[in-house]
Amino acid sequence: MEIEPQLLGSSNPPHILIFPLPMQGPVNSMLKLAELLILSADNIHATFLTTDVVYHQLIVSARAKERFDRNPRFSFRTFSDGLPNDHPRGGDKFLEMLDAVKAVSHPIVREIVSSGDTHTSSSETNQTLEVVLSPLVTCIVSDGLYNFALDVGNEVGIPVFYFETMSPSCLWVYLCLPKLVEAGEVPFTENSDLDALLVNVPGMDGYLRRRDLPDFCRARDATDDIMLQRVLGQVQQMQRAQGIILNTFEDLDSHLLSYMRSHCSIPIYTIGPLHSSLKERLQANALSSNQPFVYSDHSNSLWQEDRNCMAWLDKQPLRSVIFCSFGSQVVITKEQLTEFLHGLVDSKTLFLWMNRPGSVIGLEENYEMLEKQVLMHGDLLKGIKKNGCIVSWVPQVEVLSHPAIGGFLTHGGWNSVIESVVAGVPMVCWPHYVDQLVNSRLATEVWKLGVDIKDSCNRAIVEKVVRDIMCLRRDELLENATKMANLASTSVQKGGTSYESMKNLIKDMESLTSQI
Ligand SMILES: *[C@@H]1O[C@H](CO)[C@@H](O)[C@H](O)[C@H]1NC(C)=O
Repeated sequence: MEIEPQLLGSSNPPHILIFPLPMQGPVNSMLKLAELLILSADNIHATFLTTDVVYHQLIVSARAKERFDRNPRFSFRTFSDGLPNDHPRGGDKFLEMLDAVKAVSHPIVREIVSSGDTHTSSSETNQTLEVVLSPLVTCIVSDGLYNFALDVGNEVGIPVFYFETMSPSCLWVYLCLPKLVEAGEVPFTENSDLDALLVNVPGMDGYLRRRDLPDFCRARDATDDIMLQRVLGQVQQMQRAQGIILNTFEDLDSHLLSYMRSHCSIPIYTIGPLHSSLKERLQANALSSNQPFVYSDHSNSLWQEDRNCMAWLDKQPLRSVIFCSFGSQVVITKEQLTEFLHGLVDSKTLFLWMNRPGSVIGLEENYEMLEKQVLMHGDLLKGIKKNGCIVSWVPQVEVLSHPAIGGFLTHGGWNSVIESVVAGVPMVCWPHYVDQLVNSRLATEVWKLGVDIKDSCNRAIVEKVVRDIMCLRRDELLENATKMANLASTSVQKGGTSYESMKNLIKDMESLTSQI
């Protein structure tokens, strides 16, 4: 491909290749990062690399194409992950998906960064919308799990930044894992005392228990060991990156960030909450150009959003509804679903339940099946009809900021936690795996924003904690949540820590570009 001479040499503009894991959470936050980068500096180009499957979902559900086509400095580049159509691409097949994606994307990343060709390779995309000419890629921002990106960056001589979509607290636990293993604190078995406190995670001693560690530390089977070995390998590589980008703000994780910074020799950028930063920018831009601004246009949902729940929420009293969602990956059993629904109905609280298609084992598609198979027993169904609203997939940021929402029953995935923090909504956390187990502990013990019910799921507990956060401890929790939400908001405004960190990141990306 021909590159115009003025695009080379000293006037080389920064062109960032952004490469997330092909899953809802990482795609959402890294797309927001891409939007922020191109909005924050008028010379930055961004290419977003993802799978055909994700790209398709994005253009159908999030109308991402229309949104990004407006900016000639942004382009998508897609590839086929080579997996069968019906592969779940996550959940218990996560490692299979990761390995497939790594294998096919490695040569593609190398080709993109060495040729500067960002033509999309997908046969299904409309040719006329391709970016025909873009400057050479000067920098890679990749998920921390793509360690090959560091090798490619080294070969070609361009910097690689890691973007961690998991929480900073879990990243800190990861960084401490070699020590935990050496000291014999990890792994442990499910039968050991799960409430024992850990001593080898500085800054978290005193509240971090065995049960709060990522699930694979429990060594239940060989998969756990594979995960542990992988993470240990990943941690060793981490410091070869140019820097680590985190979706958090200083006030939220200050007690750990100082430990992390003295442990790591590379910069750590805290530029979150990304969705708030982006909203701030877009609002400012809309204001200065006299354009209307609709935040819902910037959702990066991979599934069609069901907006009917917004009208339902409009009819409910202030802070009266608990929003229940286990995110984009978690799969539960029918029994667990039944316990949660009973607990909610028994608590007599209004609730909005997100029933993501495929999220309940044995109930593949829709709510009608759910009614038929699980809820046929009269009273439960009656209770649900009276107090509940069940939807398939929601615009979560909008739901959480709706005035009727007073609580969030969540799996504690990092995007969900940070969105809850921004909205000032107290949480009940029921974590499943990886960072969720750590996040839920911080939500309760450090930020004092809710309750952690990990390792238990029965209707009596659900009823109790829902009453707790929606009635008994409501005012105090709301007060704490509002304080944290205000800190989040300050961090993304001009002069705030996240705003400044974003400026530093761009400055570093630009100065590294000029050295190429
Ligand atoms: C709210 O935060 C304060 C200060 O951290 C704490 O003492 C209190 O227990 C928190 N409230 C709840 C309900 O957790």
